[in-house]
Amino acid sequence: MNILVINGPNLGLLGKREPLVYGTKSLDDISKKLVDIAKAINDKIKITTEEIKLSFFQSDIEGEIVKKIGEAWTKDSIDGILINPGAYTHTSIAIHDAIQASNLPTVEVHLSHIYSRENFRHTSIISSVCVGQICGFGENSYFLGLQGLLNFCKNT
Ligand code: DQA
Repeated sequence: MNILVINGPNLGLLGKREPLVYGTKSLDDISKKLVDIAKAINDKIKITTEEIKLSFFQSDIEGEIVKKIGEAWTKDSIDGILINPGAYTHTSIAIHDAIQASNLPTVEVHLSHIYSRENFRHTSIISSVCVGQICGFGENSYFLGLQGLLNFCKNT
């Protein structure tokens, strides 16, 4: 089972960027832990008998994210997407349309609780084309999101 993990703008700066809001872990730390969790799920929980393979993509550029999602279903045999679209969450019809066109089960995650922050963060343009959204749990949002996505993929 191939899962693509996408991180949007400014998330490459995790650990240094507003640590009180986004935590002290780097994106690399979070990605490594996601790999460990995927292994543990494989070995112990056995959500799926297929090996879970994660691939990672980060970009600050909206069009690159759109392109990556397009490639995920046209040539890369991806089974599901875990995405933190960063600020594009609140603005990007293009990412919404790319996810919709892909038909891939997609889970949206956010480190911070976007609904308890500024008003402009209260709307996610992406969530209507996702199977679920997790926010507010710091790095654990990614781990919970991965578990939810794998469960969803297994049951469909
Ligand atoms: C974020 C929330 C967004 O509003 C913000 O623009 C980000 C990070 C989060 O993970 O909490 O860049 O997606």
